[in-house]
Amino acid sequence: MKIHRADPDLFEMILSHLKEAVIFADDRGRIKIFNPVAAKFFEVKERQALGKRLERIIPYKTIRKQFDSVYEKKEGHYDIELAIHVPTADEREARLLRCSFYPIVDRKGIFLGCLATFADITEKGLLSREISQSKDLSTIGMLARWMAHEIRNPLSSLNINIELLRDELREEIHLAQKEEIQSLLNFISYETLRLENNLKEFLDFNRLPPLKFEWAQLNDVLDSIVRLLRPDAQMKSAKMEVHFQKKLPTVKIDLSQINLAISNLLINSIQAVSERGEIHVITRGSKKNVFVIVRDNGMGISREHLPRIFDFMFSTKPTGSGLGLSITKKIISDHHGEITVRSEVNRGATFRIRLPLNPKVN
Ligand SMILES: Nc1ncnc2c1ncn2[C@@H]1O[C@H](COP(=O)(O)OP(=O)(O)OP(=O)(O)O)[C@@H](O)[C@H]1O
Ligand SMILES: [Mg+2]
Repeated sequence: MKIHRADPDLFEMILSHLKEAVIFADDRGRIKIFNPVAAKFFEVKERQALGKRLERIIPYKTIRKQFDSVYEKKEGHYDIELAIHVPTADEREARLLRCSFYPIVDRKGIFLGCLATFADITEKGLLSREISQSKDLSTIGMLARWMAHEIRNPLSSLNINIELLRDELREEIHLAQKEEIQSLLNFISYETLRLENNLKEFLDFNRLPPLKFEWAQLNDVLDSIVRLLRPDAQMKSAKMEVHFQKKLPTVKIDLSQINLAISNLLINSIQAVSERGEIHVITRGSKKNVFVIVRDNGMGISREHLPRIFDFMFSTKPTGSGLGLSITKKIISDHHGEITVRSEVNRGATFRIRLPLNPKVN
């Protein structure tokens, strides 16, 4: 079908499908376009609005002022956020609109009128405002970003492949095409699995298993972690050294969780150092606490990133999930301990874990 550019039916169709409200008023401010969403926002039927002057139809002074300004200065105003009150079943509800006002001129530069669009951003607006008010809620923002990143990508490739598959199946199937279909199907199931695993990882974080405490000697715990990870350091020609305090008091900990917490620190250090890197693992004991210090001379953390590194899903690595330190922090605080960090860019980073010997007293 050949579409004529000025086909009035096509314009109508497009306007009626838009999620945004669209209003166009001519050079004298008489409404020429008023789509269904505009009718909803401004509570006037299209029939009644067409041909009328803007000020008679738009009940909101803030919006009328924006139109006036376009008529006076012939300049546009974009992405302005304005609130309106639309009726719901029993009362009126505030909605936040993102509005843009465009002066429309013809090829000769003659002013034809003003086009305005209004998008309902109530949910987005509220969410971002709440995030800036609450630190905990910023997790939601990061979660949303992670979701967008981790779930949208495989999903969109899934959808493309499903479309391809549909096209294939519409044609008569030859033997050669069967193979093609098979490989598309394999791809789809691979992506679905990836999606499932990502979700599992996320759920695991929220449901770390309940702590199982037992008495342990931290030096021994660290020794086994270092043994496991030293080869990774050696791969980068980096040294990993331990400096253990002898006769370190024993602590009551969940072995596997503390193992995970400290491994996360060492993995980060290995990733941060380059050739001739050095990673030191130190233990100290006092009357009330034991301390584990992990120090490296790697790339360090910028002052700007430092307050955020323990945040859920904060990562500066291209393929990092940003879960490591947030999990470590949760485990340490479940043990009534604390973790602190000092770092300078290009000089390295030092993480210090304090675990109380008697959590009830501390
Ligand atoms: N030893 C370190 N040296 C330099 N930067 C670090 C170090 N440890 C953590 N960081 C910074 O903190 C960020 C968050 O660390 P975290 O371990 O939580 O996530 P990640 O390492 O990026 O991803 P994942 O832990 O899932 O592998 C890192 O991306 C990095 O920018
Ligand atoms: Mg990490």
